[in-house]
Amino acid sequence: MSKVTVIGAGNVGATVAYSVATKDIVKEVVLLDIKEGLAEGKSLDMWQTSAIEGFNTRIIGSTNDYTKTAGSDVIVITSGLPRKPGMSRDDLISTNAKIVNEVTAKAIEQSPDAIVIIVSNPLDVMTYVAYKTAKTAKNKVFGMAGILDTARYRAFLADEMGTSPKDIQALLMGGHGDTMVPLPRYTKVNGIPITQYIKPERLDEIVARTKKGGGELVGLMGTSAWYAPGTAAAQMVEAIIKDEHRTFPVCAYLDGEYGLKDIYLGVPVVLGKNGIEKIIELDLNEQENKDLKTSADAVKSVMDIFDGMNIL
Ligand code: NAI
Ligand code: 2OP
Repeated sequence: MSKVTVIGAGNVGATVAYSVATKDIVKEVVLLDIKEGLAEGKSLDMWQTSAIEGFNTRIIGSTNDYTKTAGSDVIVITSGLPRKPGMSRDDLISTNAKIVNEVTAKAIEQSPDAIVIIVSNPLDVMTYVAYKTAKTAKNKVFGMAGILDTARYRAFLADEMGTSPKDIQALLMGGHGDTMVPLPRYTKVNGIPITQYIKPERLDEIVARTKKGGGELVGLMGTSAWYAPGTAAAQMVEAIIKDEHRTFPVCAYLDGEYGLKDIYLGVPVVLGKNGIEKIIELDLNEQENKDLKTSADAVKSVMDIFDGMNIL
């Protein structure tokens, strides 16, 4: 009898809503957008696939009426501008921070016990904004990036080896940007180390492509991706709703883990009905630690820009 709300009915939000609905794991998905009729239209269209796809989850659209979201178990926030070629980071921060702040406050007012998943960019800082706004426990507010980034990495590796991406287990840490830290040492094909399949120089190229995976798609489409981001967020929703205790890389609040404090950053966690059930602390080697620190510094530099805006 669960309920999921998705704020923002654009490319990513609609994909999250549809992916959650087709999994048939909740009673209701509410899709909300500020644009008149957009969420209602997309929801109606999706609901009309229920007889074809065979799901019962009712999808309800709302133009900015948060009362329809009341009593949600999970809220996914995708509202905000997507990256466009040539757009400055500052432009995205100021616009999206105001949007994330506003929608988080309105949504949490209706569902004070909800778990909140942030998708809006710049991800690590927007998750921090939502956490500060929601004033709820740190295990209940987190961001989606790592599942997407590892999915891209796994897809590139599958192409390289001509193998199924399902058999590739991979881990990636750090911020959702070019400094993210894919970890070849933790990349396996059903237990077999990836280094037995791919030469180090080629693996370096795949890691480099993964780090710029979002930008590659922006370059091709003029806006950012939505199928993999949307389904990645839906996989997090599923782990929470079904209390699966799955291990995923998630943008989590760090309070001393990995030597980092008061920052949101991608780390491996266990996801269940309480949100982040546990943060897993790996024994990183010197280079991996250095790369993680570089990534944390990059996130902190975006946080500094945000702090200077005095939005909260
Ligand atoms: P989009 O432009 O297709 O959709 C955004 C939607 O948000 C629009 O429909 C807009 O009307 C709505 N919106 C704006 N202000 C709102 C408000 N105050 N209340 C309710 N709705 C509001 O953008 P898209 O492609 O769906 O991307 C959404 C966000 O997700 C962007 O910030 C993008 O950068 C980010 N993103 C993050 C990823 C990640 O890995 N974390 C991956 C892909 C996208
Ligand atoms: C992505 O990685 C831009 O965050 C967006 O596709």
